[in-house]
Amino acid sequence: MLILLKHPLLTHKLTQLRRKETSTKDFRETLDEIAGLMAYEVTNDLPLNIITINTPLSICQTGELAMDIVLVPVLRAGLGMVDGITKLLPSAKVGHIGMYRDHTTLEPLTYYTKLPDNLQDAIVMVLDPMLATGGSSGAAIKVLKDNGAKTIKLVCVIGVPEGVRKIEHDHPDVQIYLAGLDERLNEKGYILPGLGDAGDRLFGT
Ligand code: PRP
Ligand code: URA
Repeated sequence: MLILLKHPLLTHKLTQLRRKETSTKDFRETLDEIAGLMAYEVTNDLPLNIITINTPLSICQTGELAMDIVLVPVLRAGLGMVDGITKLLPSAKVGHIGMYRDHTTLEPLTYYTKLPDNLQDAIVMVLDPMLATGGSSGAAIKVLKDNGAKTIKLVCVIGVPEGVRKIEHDHPDVQIYLAGLDERLNEKGYILPGLGDAGDRLFGT
């Protein structure tokens, strides 16, 4: 299921990210801020345990997060979303999946996987700014499911209908969050209008 986030602050920051004159420094800072704003929305259905605590004046029935959160950035560009979210969720664990698209086939190739234990008891958020063909995100979700993950949210910044359809078809249980739904892919598999190569813009390569 696609959840398209439309907050004006998100749109404003996404405009900054898209501009070709945005520097590496500004791209990095803005992606971080966008991830934080998205996290606020992505976490709005997290389950709570109801607990009783003491305030300085009285007892109080209140809530605390019931489940562990695991963030899984897809390398490289997903790394640019981690800090923005851990500012809100400082106890989140972070796994990593290294993947790049073969330039001719656009198929994702996995070169690294390191995940925390107990994925089955956690809410797992896959982080990748770009959902193009959906190959990379779909493959990352499969790795997580193979490692026991049951509740997965895919948090991307920009996507296209083709990539959304692929995830919805292959992983109908996964909620997909986007801040922008663009038109289409070009002949090289880049999102139009998009923002270019997210990893290159984030790391200045
Ligand atoms: C980019 C992006 C996604 C992927 C999206 O990574 O960060 O992971 O492409 O495309 P897809 O939906 O068609 O799979 P890239 O392969 O450029 O690797 P990099 O981040 O290491 O540069
Ligand atoms: N990966 C990117 O970094 N950008 C795109 O537009 C598509 C895939």
